[in-house]
Amino acid sequence: MKPRILVSRPPFPEVLQPLRQRCLVEANETGVAWSLEEFHRRVADKEGLLISGADRIDEKLLDAAPHLKVVCNVAVGYNNIDLAACTERGVLATNTPGVLDETTADLTWALLLAAARRLPEAERFLRAGEWQGWMGDAFLGRDVHHATLGILGLGRIGQAVARRARGFSMKVLYHNRTRLSRKTEKALDVQYVSFARLLREADFLSLHLPYSQNAHHIIGAKELARMKPTAVLVNAARGGLVDDVALIAALRSQRIAAAGLDVFENEPNFNPDFLKLDNVALAPHIGSATRATRLAMFELAVKNLLAALAGKRPPCLLNPEAWTKRRK
Ligand code: GLV
Repeated sequence: MKPRILVSRPPFPEVLQPLRQRCLVEANETGVAWSLEEFHRRVADKEGLLISGADRIDEKLLDAAPHLKVVCNVAVGYNNIDLAACTERGVLATNTPGVLDETTADLTWALLLAAARRLPEAERFLRAGEWQGWMGDAFLGRDVHHATLGILGLGRIGQAVARRARGFSMKVLYHNRTRLSRKTEKALDVQYVSFARLLREADFLSLHLPYSQNAHHIIGAKELARMKPTAVLVNAARGGLVDDVALIAALRSQRIAAAGLDVFENEPNFNPDFLKLDNVALAPHIGSATRATRLAMFELAVKNLLAALAGKRPPCLLNPEAWTKRRK
């Protein structure tokens, strides 16, 4: 008997077809997220879930899924999954690390450059038909080249961002929970500094740490007040790392110069006050959104799923403590 699995968001056909050969697949192919009630109803007889980082896996969901063996995020971040609750119930949880680092770093740079050079504002002006000719003093942005880039969280994605900074002849400072080896620092040409110094000296501050309760509002009013008034903040990591209300106030008062944001608190119902600001470049959580990368993420998630359903340890297991008490 094939295991029953649920796919919460439209998968690529290349992924769905092989999956159907091995499993009884119920997939949301509408592009519109199921309501919580519907999601809970559909998991009742499922052994595996292939979900997006926007789907919440909490105690309630887990209790509605008594046959569930494995939850597979098609995302590297997993703050949407209550890992302790999964472990308690013997449910394995997995993510997709490694396959989206370079693509997310590219998007980080797109936001950084767009915010620095006021691209969204300039495009709006152009589209509105307001361009009359060469303007010597309009849309004056900030130089990226030779500026100081501050990276908070120098994991795989942060390092991919740092590598790109070389092409812009930037000085790169970083702060991390644990300092990297001197060898890695040298290879990346980055300098470890305190959080206070990072805030003080960065012309561009980019966040690349995972979200956790400890990191909630790691950038709030106090931290924004310590940044340069000319600084640009970039967040392509997770909503909740930044206090969005405080950021809006800082951008409105020009306490910092600009921001580039791919993630927000309370997605997709982000704070609409961002839309009233000219000095922010906005994107709807598209950090990993290239075809090749999304396909690679789905493929890795499927690998995790099929391994777990075959009784094998999935390659990207997030809660190894659940392995010995996994549901069989
Ligand atoms: C996207 O946000 C991810 O965590 O992969």
